[in-house]
Amino acid sequence: MSINTEIPVRVAKITPVAEKIRRFRLERLDGQPMPYFSAGAHVVVSMHDGDILRRNPYSLMSAPYDSSAYEISVLAVENSRGGSAFMHRISEGDELRVSQPVNLFPADHRGRKHILIAGGIGITPFLAMMAQFSRDNVAFELHYAMRSRTHGAYWQDLLQQYGPQRVKTYFDAEGDRIPLNAILDNQPLGTHLYVCGPAGMIDGVLLAGLEAGWPRENLHSERFLAPPPGQPFKIWLEQSRLSITVGEHQSILEAIEAAGVDAPYMCRGGACGQCETTVLSCDGEIEHNDIYLSDEEKAERRKIMICVSRFKGQQLALQL
Ligand code: FES
Repeated sequence: MSINTEIPVRVAKITPVAEKIRRFRLERLDGQPMPYFSAGAHVVVSMHDGDILRRNPYSLMSAPYDSSAYEISVLAVENSRGGSAFMHRISEGDELRVSQPVNLFPADHRGRKHILIAGGIGITPFLAMMAQFSRDNVAFELHYAMRSRTHGAYWQDLLQQYGPQRVKTYFDAEGDRIPLNAILDNQPLGTHLYVCGPAGMIDGVLLAGLEAGWPRENLHSERFLAPPPGQPFKIWLEQSRLSITVGEHQSILEAIEAAGVDAPYMCRGGACGQCETTVLSCDGEIEHNDIYLSDEEKAERRKIMICVSRFKGQQLALQL
């Protein structure tokens, strides 16, 4: 992605939808329609927060066939690196930039039925998927786990819109649990399963699916990892001939962008592989925080995903 393809937008509407969750309606400044997207897609929102440029990915939750605006929902996370806190400070009328939509979590249209399993704010890509499935008359059901009735977003609307046969809700505060094994055991051949939510939930659902004999290609997940904080460190960019310090709450990618160097990215969350960068030399330990590289690749120390990984040591030189 590049800043040249970003779309300037205005925050047309902000709606509080649950405890710590706000929905944003983003309309183009030039009045043109938004690019169409496929359900499951996300955009990266660029936020100018004083001198700092923040870029966070958010799933598109509006209907894919509605090009009048994009809608996203943002949870105010504790220990925010700044992005979600920024989104909870802004007002209607403020201007932002969004990337072109990218889909790393598409529905498999060969599926005879689709099971959607959401945890918390992981509901957002499923809102777009359900709109599309419903319009296409495709069989689906949603299993949606939330902390409590006040923490959960959209569940009343979804129950009303799609009915209790297709929408099942589970509240941690009331001791509910998603009956995963029963769900996995009772599906027609050709069913696809999608999970989005906290990492532990995703891992548990995928493992349970495999143990129940589901084909790996019928199990889909989406997770974006936030770049973890850590001690500041220096890197050397060989092609740019630049030495850069990566701050405590910065990713390598963010430090590079702040220095005016363009680097490719899509998810900014360690999942897509787009920001893979060649390591030219490494005197120290790379902290591989991504879920893209294999264990063997991580051990070789020849590649690094600069959106989430960090470094501890004397010297790290990158081909950038
Ligand atoms: S941008 Fe997707 S893994 Fe880094």
